[in-house]
Amino acid sequence: MGVLLKRVALAVIVLLVVIQVFRPSRTNPTADPKNEITASLAVPPEVAAIFNRSCGDCHTNRTIWPWYSGVASVSWMVAYDVNHGRSALNFSEWGMGNPKKNADTLQEVCKELTEKEMPGTFYPILHPAANLTDADIQTVCRWTQDVRPGSAAESMQTNP
Ligand code: HEC
Repeated sequence: MGVLLKRVALAVIVLLVVIQVFRPSRTNPTADPKNEITASLAVPPEVAAIFNRSCGDCHTNRTIWPWYSGVASVSWMVAYDVNHGRSALNFSEWGMGNPKKNADTLQEVCKELTEKEMPGTFYPILHPAANLTDADIQTVCRWTQDVRPGSAAESMQTNP
């Protein structure tokens, strides 16, 4: 290796080490089980399973943070996704949402899946189980159309 190449390689390594100082917090805020979506809507197990494997990491307070989510600069992207995902839709804080807005969000869920916007392009590469089939999308859409806010007090629990 030429001297220049060695210096560049060293500079890159130093840079990678230095940026590790900037750690976004990887939080899972405690959520009152009363506010889980399953407390206000009946979520059948097949729908809950889809949400758990494909959406939960970005749209609940039960995010599983993989090891690489602690390594900059991936950590910044993952934290960005989770923070923005939770503020757009948080199944763990569903009960705190305004009912009109929640009803719109349900329609939005079906739309995002039909248009293949969610769960995004990058996430399913690292989480193959997040890939949804057309049948999965139909299952969710049928549910969003049938379920009515407040229609069922008794409901399935999603996985913790
Ligand atoms: C890798 C993280 C990630 C995953 C996984 C993910 N989302 Fe998202 N989601 C986001 C982010 C970030 C936003 C906000 C920015 C945007 O709209 O692109 C968002 C926005 C949304 C919105 C828009 C809400 C609104 O008010 O417009 C819906 C609906 C949604 N996601 C549904 C889902 C569903 C359903 C799944 C599972 C099939 C899913 N998402 C999986 C990150 C994710």
